[in-house]
Amino acid sequence: MQVTVFNCRSFDEKDLFIEYAAKLGLELVLCPDAPDLNNVSLCKGSRCVDVITSKIDADLIRAFRDNGVEYITTRTIGYDHIDLEAARACGIKVGNAPYGPHGVADYTVMLILMSIRRMGAILGRTALQDYTLAGLNGRELRDLTVGVIGTGRIGATVVRSLSGFGCRILAYDLYEKEEVKQYADYVSLAQIWKEADVITLHTPLTEANHHLICADTIAQMKDGVVIVNTARGALIDSDAFIEAIENGKIGAAGLDVVENEFGLYYYDHKSDILKNRELALLRSFPNVTVSHHMAFYTKNYVETVVMDSLKSCKCFMEGQENPWEVI
Ligand code: NAI
Repeated sequence: MQVTVFNCRSFDEKDLFIEYAAKLGLELVLCPDAPDLNNVSLCKGSRCVDVITSKIDADLIRAFRDNGVEYITTRTIGYDHIDLEAARACGIKVGNAPYGPHGVADYTVMLILMSIRRMGAILGRTALQDYTLAGLNGRELRDLTVGVIGTGRIGATVVRSLSGFGCRILAYDLYEKEEVKQYADYVSLAQIWKEADVITLHTPLTEANHHLICADTIAQMKDGVVIVNTARGALIDSDAFIEAIENGKIGAAGLDVVENEFGLYYYDHKSDILKNRELALLRSFPNVTVSHHMAFYTKNYVETVVMDSLKSCKCFMEGQENPWEVI
């Protein structure tokens, strides 16, 4: 039983793939690159391929089929990078590998704490042996109101974690969860804008909430509000956001995601001239912490997606019930 693994990272995935495949009795073809029409023949002899978020379009899916592939598993929660219609038409099944919400939730709490304690500025000074205090006075979470927008898997976990800090928690979602009501009050978005000292985003990006944080909503927020975004960059209108940082309306921010990040992150661009001006500006502010869409990236995450993607291939090939199958 052979699986062809694409985008196999040598620094964290390769050894795990080898270890887990041995445990599951699978043989592997490991390829460091994304699948394309040039390397698709690596699938010959494999009924299953294991991919990440590179585009898996109709041409590639037909090429998979022509090489004998019957199942595509993606080591991600989302599978919108795979043309599902084409997969259906080719009789190829697709599966995903969900991982727990705790990695992103922990990271969110860290960004909130970093923002209210001015950690970006502190680290900047420490690096220069500047051990002064002026301008570094922070705030305590227990004195603040945090607004959590989106209380799905990650947002609800953030709410639970924040409850230990003694802050007041307001929540907003299209659907309310009983579990969240133990720790937070569901309120309108307008009330979150008006009352929250810290706002953290945990919804998917949809047409309805594109640029949810924009000039109009920022104007309704408290002066010095802290914004944390570990969800999707386009939930925030970057131009309005930058203006609000510049004029002090937004006091601090922690951004794991930014608009137009696609194609930028996870590559070394040290010597490149980048076109994303918003990112350059956001990185330049001492009160904004920017990271490259990596809130999910923990040991637990890597182990889970590598193991579960292989288990789902095994289930498929053995004709067992496959909890990871999405179509
Ligand atoms: P989820 O699907 O469990 O929860 C999303 C919640 O948002 C649901 O409760 C839903 O009702 C709510 N929602 C949808 N549209 C809404 C709207 N217009 N207004 C208010 N609430 C709305 O999703 P999960 O797993 O909690 O992920 C949340 C976000 O985190 C997503 O944007 C996801 O892409 C992002 N994410 C980021 C990662 C990172 O590394 N930075 C890793 C994993 C997910």
